[in-house]
Amino acid sequence: MAETLKKLDELVALCKRRGFIFQSSDIYGGLASCYDYGPLGVELKRNVKNQWWKSVVQMRDDMVGLDCSILMHPMVWKASGHVDKFADLIAECKKCNTRTRVDHLKGAEGEETTHHSHAEVSENNLVSKICPNCGAKGQFTKPMPFKLMFETQMGANAEDSMTLYLRPETAQGIFANFRNVLDTTRIKVPFGIAQMGKSFRNEVTTKAFIFRTREFEQMEIEFFCKPGTDEQWYEHWKEQRLNWYTDLGIRPENLRLRKHEDDELAHYAKGCVDIEYKFPFGQGDWQELEGIANRTDYDLRQHQRGMRSMTKWFEAKRDTLKTPLLGEDEEYQKGPLSYFDDEAKERYIPYVIEPSAGADRGTLAFLVDAYAEEEVRGEKRSVLRFDPRLAPIKVGVFPLVKKEGMPEKAHAIYNDLRKGFPCFYDEKGAVGRRYRRQDEAGTPFCVTVDGQTSEDNTVTVRERDSMDQIRINSDQVVHYLREKLQM
Ligand code: GLY
Repeated sequence: MAETLKKLDELVALCKRRGFIFQSSDIYGGLASCYDYGPLGVELKRNVKNQWWKSVVQMRDDMVGLDCSILMHPMVWKASGHVDKFADLIAECKKCNTRTRVDHLKGAEGEETTHHSHAEVSENNLVSKICPNCGAKGQFTKPMPFKLMFETQMGANAEDSMTLYLRPETAQGIFANFRNVLDTTRIKVPFGIAQMGKSFRNEVTTKAFIFRTREFEQMEIEFFCKPGTDEQWYEHWKEQRLNWYTDLGIRPENLRLRKHEDDELAHYAKGCVDIEYKFPFGQGDWQELEGIANRTDYDLRQHQRGMRSMTKWFEAKRDTLKTPLLGEDEEYQKGPLSYFDDEAKERYIPYVIEPSAGADRGTLAFLVDAYAEEEVRGEKRSVLRFDPRLAPIKVGVFPLVKKEGMPEKAHAIYNDLRKGFPCFYDEKGAVGRRYRRQDEAGTPFCVTVDGQTSEDNTVTVRERDSMDQIRINSDQVVHYLREKLQM
């Protein structure tokens, strides 16, 4: 019976030992909550992102992609509401001065205050809460907002330098390009724009390895639809996105959908549901992998207001935008970020359904779910049962021994295979140990050249999970593995 992962620590150790994930700046003692993906990790994470892109852009007629800059005009964040509203409510312990997110404070009984950081919470609500650092009870200051956006300076001279923000979500780059995409493609509403890339939030508390870090990578979709059809698209994306995780091998019993309470909703959302994964932190902790939100027409409307507030720019652009400067109400219907539906002959500001996934969290969930330990002939084997599409290395190629022409033959096979997918050649040590190393890296197949190869040109192909071996002609190896790997 295979054992699944009980504690995150085992996985952290494996990730370090095998080069999936390292602490950032390790040689200087590390930088808290920052991590680097090693040789296997970078392949795994890239595969996760490529599968997402394939599923949401390549395989759909109603989606296109974007890659926006991380630094954007500061008006983007003013208009989006992030400058004024993107904050966590924190309280400071009067005994030890540690600041904690109010929604993460637990009482003696272990219950959480509230889901949401923006809910009204006063000192009085915190009398039963325990400081996670020193254990003092009810010794908190009045809760205060803590801004989550990182600031940076652009430009060398004092007079023309300006304060910019590192983007806290990739979403705004999509909204800011909505018009550009409409004007340069023939796409029509309903359609979506996908983007993946780094975002930054100065989180008060980080959590559990790569689960919550201050620098992280998002995979976001903004799906634009006609108001009134938004509920239907919300349902569509919930189903699509949940299926994506199970199709790539996450066990359905480890996934659930959780609807946000009203007091938990972000400032732009009418409704939101999280796809949660049962992580092995604490007692088995359901945590968000992806949020699917109904952002309504909030963002496009806000950006129209933002554009309008920059009157000079707006006037200069007026001819190209082909819209007069309008009153607020009129502008809502006819402004530069509205959409004209040719068929229905009506203009509106689209509603937006946003499936927003964390690439690092997703990668962690795929690692956790793939991890198994089992006894094989009296020995322990650790194996990562990745879906072949996610496995960092697809095929290990070995000569049984380093003589009798086996390395040359194995090298020739390796050189053929690597044209199609990442492979690993290994001739060091006992073949059983080489198999174990590939099991631990999650490699789905190993090809071994042995004594029989020189007689009948066959090699063995060993499958990771069943450990079954079959013999096939070496000329068939590429074709056979292409089919199995769906590549
Ligand atoms: N764009 C949604 C989020 O970053 O949470």
